Amino acid sequence: MFSRHKVAQPTFQGAPVHTNHILPWVSFFLRPHRRLFAVLTVNRLFRMVFFVGIQPLLIAKMVQAFENGTAYANPSIMWNLMLTFAVLSSIVYVLIIVCTEEAKLGDRTSRSARLLGLAQLNRLSVQWHEESDSGGKLQKIMTGSIGLRQLIRSYFLNILSFIAGFIGSAIALVGMGLPLIYVAMFAGLMVTYIAAAWWSSIFVARGYDKQNQLLENLIGKVYEFVNASLTVKIFNLGDHVLAHAQEGEQTGYKQSSQIYTLDYCRWIGLNFIGLFWMLLITYVAITQTLSQTLSLTAFALVVYQVLKVWNMMEDFTSMYSEIIEQSSAFKRLTTLLAQHVQVTDIAATTPLKVENGAIEFRNVSFAYNAKHPVFEGLELNILPGEKVGIIGRSGSGKSTLIKLLLRFYDPVGNEIIIDRQNIRTVSQDSLRQNIAVIPQDVSLFNHSVMDNIRYGRLAATDDEVIQAAQLANADEFIRKLPAGYQTLVGEKGAKLSGGQCQRIAIARAILKDAPILILDEATSALDTHSEQLIQASLARLMGRKTVIAIAHRLSTIAALDRILVFDKGRIVEEGTHQSLLAQNGLYAKLWQSQTMHN
Ligand SMILES: Nc1ncnc2c1ncn2[C@@H]1O[C@H](COP(=O)(O)OP(=O)(O)OP(=O)(O)O)[C@@H](O)[C@H]1O
Ligand SMILES: [Mg+2]
Repeated sequence: MFSRHKVAQPTFQGAPVHTNHILPWVSFFLRPHRRLFAVLTVNRLFRMVFFVGIQPLLIAKMVQAFENGTAYANPSIMWNLMLTFAVLSSIVYVLIIVCTEEAKLGDRTSRSARLLGLAQLNRLSVQWHEESDSGGKLQKIMTGSIGLRQLIRSYFLNILSFIAGFIGSAIALVGMGLPLIYVAMFAGLMVTYIAAAWWSSIFVARGYDKQNQLLENLIGKVYEFVNASLTVKIFNLGDHVLAHAQEGEQTGYKQSSQIYTLDYCRWIGLNFIGLFWMLLITYVAITQTLSQTLSLTAFALVVYQVLKVWNMMEDFTSMYSEIIEQSSAFKRLTTLLAQHVQVTDIAATTPLKVENGAIEFRNVSFAYNAKHPVFEGLELNILPGEKVGIIGRSGSGKSTLIKLLLRFYDPVGNEIIIDRQNIRTVSQDSLRQNIAVIPQDVSLFNHSVMDNIRYGRLAATDDEVIQAAQLANADEFIRKLPAGYQTLVGEKGAKLSGGQCQRIAIARAILKDAPILILDEATSALDTHSEQLIQASLARLMGRKTVIAIAHRLSTIAALDRILVFDKGRIVEEGTHQSLLAQNGLYAKLWQSQTMHN
């Protein structure tokens, strides 16, 4: 009956990104289902109010009718009460079917939350990703989404029951015409009880926050080790990893023990608050019955309500600890969702249009760490279609230059211009669509070779993929793999050689066919023979594109239009291969040492 409700699309529109408080986020995730939520709330309230209030009230009315004799004078009163009882009970039982939607709603919202968490990982900048470990990120999303699902279930099963219990009691007490003092006392119980539960929960919540943080750190660390299983084996780090994990588990255990102790102390305190009010209510009822201001039926009803509410409170107290735990878990995710995104598109963004492919760095300064700037006032002008080679010592900022061009980081207060468009004003998607990169460390997914190449352009046909592989000189080795193009390459391409991974990355770039091409040590893992084969196809790929090629092996860039020599974030020499040799500077020295080795 509610099948049209779907898992919501991940969108940040209207999301409370300025806060990590859970309530605005719960309400955000429930917004697409607000009608269903309202129906379910009313249904649950009705059920509980019926059981706690209306059912006992109808029975008390029957007893009262016998007690004061009206039942004997007019038996139809009894039959009417019985009929009401039967009809209402039937409705409540049929409506159980609606309750199945509560669990489904929790499930749907938690799935939406998981998708939004993933969308947030896509939005967050490279800097944030480089600073956070992958295991911890996933843990946040998983714990958080489960927390949300449980919170929604708790809302229906516990919080609403608790509220409905008091409404029901009030209805029963007022319905029997009992003095308002009883309603006031029940209200007093509720207010003091909730206030104490809320206040004490702050401490337990802190404990859970800390526990979740510890777990994320632990999983983040362990995940890194699991991810680097080869290094763990090479250096015999297995025992070290286990010891590390054990230490983490031990700290976690201490933390949860503290939470359990705190939680039980809290439970004792809350029970005493309950006991105080229960005794007070019973005392007043006994005194009034003794002085004959309260009828026997009314006394029985008060005692019954006292027991019922007492029961509910016990349930709620134990459930409330779970609610705190779930809130703390969900907060891990809301904190991720509210995380400031460092590199964002401006509001009036336009897509980048590359017609010529001119690239300009105007007075660019950048530092990962304020103490060690990578660039200070870098000026660089690359003409349309120019092929530029970059060489320089390790750590001189070559890859960083590329990261700035791709807008992984924003430099401070200066500009990078492509075809007269500042890259800050265009959308990041369009910027990256126009730049094909063969990176220094190729990352492959444990998917088929076919798919790995297709990630260069998702819409490409199988034939286009194969053609790109042929141009990258990869087709031959791919066909020899056990399942050809359908072979899974292993995590991070573990089942392929370094050179094979690079050829797949080259095929990807060929397939992408973007007007700007960047090669960061693209052929460093290839032997001389394969490199020569690929150089030919790379030369064809370069065509009229603007190219930036970074290389340590100078022979790979010697033929380019212009070569820049980087040192400590500055261009110290530039020119063609011949003119640089003639300058007899750093380039000439490097060239001599490399040709001597060959
Ligand atoms: N994410 C990062 N956070 C902090 N510092 C970084 C980061 N990436 C690089 N660096 C530092 O910035 C400097 C330039 O690094 P970059 O990777 O650009 O060098 P490179 O010229 O590409 O070196 P290589 O030839 O070894 O690839 C180095 O000192 C490096 O330690
Ligand atoms: Mg580099």
